[in-house]
Formats: sequence, C-alpha cells, structure tokens
Amino acid sequence: MQSTVNNNENWTPKIVAFFCNWCTYTASDLAGVSRLRYAPSTRVIRVMCSGRIDPEFVMEAFAKGADGILIGGCHPGDCHYAEGNYKCLRRFTLLQKYADQMGIDKERLRLEWISASEGKKLQEVVNDMTEQIRKLGPSKIKNVVETIER
Ligand code: FES
Repeated sequence: MQSTVNNNENWTPKIVAFFCNWCTYTASDLAGVSRLRYAPSTRVIRVMCSGRIDPEFVMEAFAKGADGILIGGCHPGDCHYAEGNYKCLRRFTLLQKYADQMGIDKERLRLEWISASEGKKLQEVVNDMTEQIRKLGPSKIKNVVETIER
C-alpha cells in the first residue's frame, strides 16, 4: 500500500475540464494572465455553456483515459443562456449516480461554479481536485473498456 501512495506522488492525473466560455474558461485565462500557478493536470475543452455538456462527453473522456472530469460553469442565475447551468446541475446529479453504477468513484467527477473574475478559485479547485485524484490513483475505466472491446 505504501508503494502505491509513493507512486501516486510522482504521477500527474489527467483531468478533462469542460469549461463554459463565458465564465470558467475566462477564469482560467485570468489565472494564466495573473501568473497563478496550478497543477498541469487539466486538458481544457471550451464549451459555450455548461448546459452544452452531454453526459456522453464525460463517459467518452473516461473511456479514453481521463482520471477525472471537472465541469465549470457560471454561477446560478448568471448563465448567459438563462438556464443552461441548471440543466447542467440536473445532468451532473444523474451522471454521478450513473458513474457510481459503472464503478467510477464519484470523487472523480466535480462540478464548480467559477465566474470570469475568480481566477484564484480556479487555481484552488484545480489543485484540490488534482490532489484528490492523485489519492484515488489512476482510473481503470479505460482498461475495462479496452478489455470489453477485444
Ligand atoms: S453560459 Fe456559462 S453556464 Fe451557461
């Protein structure tokens, strides 16, 4: 067990981050411009609204090797398309249940409301999630999917 913990210390998780163009994506830009350092673990995919994130995107990312999924959207009431983030929240709740049924730790999924001005919050969330995933270790979903497809 100790060796697993030590191995994970040198391992960088792959976190696929779906960020809303208007808020969280802009916050990641702000964090960069402000030179706020955060773990190089995220691969950001920009979407116009968190309501655009199809649960299939999330499951496909896991199937292709993501160790965690971070979804970032505008704060409730601030969605540029009125209700997209509420739709995202409903889907996220279902996605967590589905992921659990599929044997995926629900800690590998995270939803955060991060506005364009919250570069610092983005830094904290990415660092915190990276540590959380590091403790869980690499996801085995990709291996399972490859075994099934053989
Ligand atoms: S526009 Fe950002 S969550 Fe809808």
